[in-house]
Amino acid sequence: MTTLKDTQIKGNKAETNPFLQAMAGEKTKQTPVWLMRQAGRYMKVYRDLKEKWGFLELCHNPELAATVTTDAAKALKVDAAIIFADILLILEALDLGLHFEAGEGPVIEKPIKSAEDVIALPDIDAGQKLSYVGQSIKNTIHNLGPSIPVIGFAGAPFTVASYAIEGGGSRNFEKAKSFMYHQSDAWHNLMDKLVVHTASYLNMQVASGASVVQLFDSWVGALSPADFKEFALPHLKKLIASISKDAYIVYFGTQTNGLLNQFRELDAHTIGVDWRIDLDTAWNIIGHNKGIQGNLDPVTLFADKETIKKRAIEILDKAEGRPGHIFNLGHGILPQTPVDNVKYLVEVVQSYKNK
Ligand code: CP3
Repeated sequence: MTTLKDTQIKGNKAETNPFLQAMAGEKTKQTPVWLMRQAGRYMKVYRDLKEKWGFLELCHNPELAATVTTDAAKALKVDAAIIFADILLILEALDLGLHFEAGEGPVIEKPIKSAEDVIALPDIDAGQKLSYVGQSIKNTIHNLGPSIPVIGFAGAPFTVASYAIEGGGSRNFEKAKSFMYHQSDAWHNLMDKLVVHTASYLNMQVASGASVVQLFDSWVGALSPADFKEFALPHLKKLIASISKDAYIVYFGTQTNGLLNQFRELDAHTIGVDWRIDLDTAWNIIGHNKGIQGNLDPVTLFADKETIKKRAIEILDKAEGRPGHIFNLGHGILPQTPVDNVKYLVEVVQSYKNK
């Protein structure tokens, strides 16, 4: 298994940036912080852009996408910037049709219903087809300079497959899980294809300059430990093994308390956890040879500043200054979040003194 220190990252930016230092398992003066969905509707600059452009239009436009990422990272003074894109762009590249309906979230226009649908998926070069995301990364690096690392990302196979089969968001994942149980060969075939395309997509992002890639497995917590082991874990391992060694890897999911012991088997550098577990408890289960990212409840940002500070410091204290903690929320920032509170949180984390 790769330990934190095994990976040599190209350019070795780790020396100067606390986020990359933490990814490398090195001690940092300050706990690094960035926030999932740090660029989005809670910010006025983004809402103003959305007056003129659709969400997918922004993703497809490398100049505008880079502006969104850059503005958010600069406004918040965070230690890393995540590229403006979406985990579902890969399904659009696979010709399944994607649009976002106001108030309803994503819609996959031609969801996968049968083994034949999986076989019929086009044989694309995902890195090439999604190269506009690589251009967004290059533009962002140009805007931000070398001191702020850029995070690339993709959805993990289970979460992306669940969107492809459900046709959108879901509460109980009946369609995806039925597919998994009744057509398990087709399920594994779909996961195999997603692994190949996602690796191609992520490696293009790394070649474009992303120093870290995050795999979003937002809905993996819907799986029982036994189903995770059989239907998701082997594919996740294959995907992680296919990602360029020039980048650090974060694997993130929510509601994963019952799965954390299996995450020990993943060759990711860092595991992202939600707020439903104490950070130290989670880290003990995952193992201290990996880093941990998290884990403030995003709704805490709706509280008063005193509460925000108290809860953030409780998390920092639980990390006990151990190398490898990257402060984040346990899931993305919500659209109504007060921007001032987000900035305040970043200040609290960055001024906390590691013992
Ligand atoms: O700042 C960032 O974090 C970078 C951009 C980013 C977006 N989506 C932009 C976005 C990232 C990292 C994502 C990942 C993503 N997309 C996930 C995994 C993270 C998570 O939240 O669990 C998922 C599940 C998606 C799929 C998705 N995209 C949904 C369910 C929705 C609709 C719900 C919502 O929050 O609006 C989106 C749309 C989306 N992706 C928006 C943004 C800024 C909102 C679009 C808008 O109305 O402007």
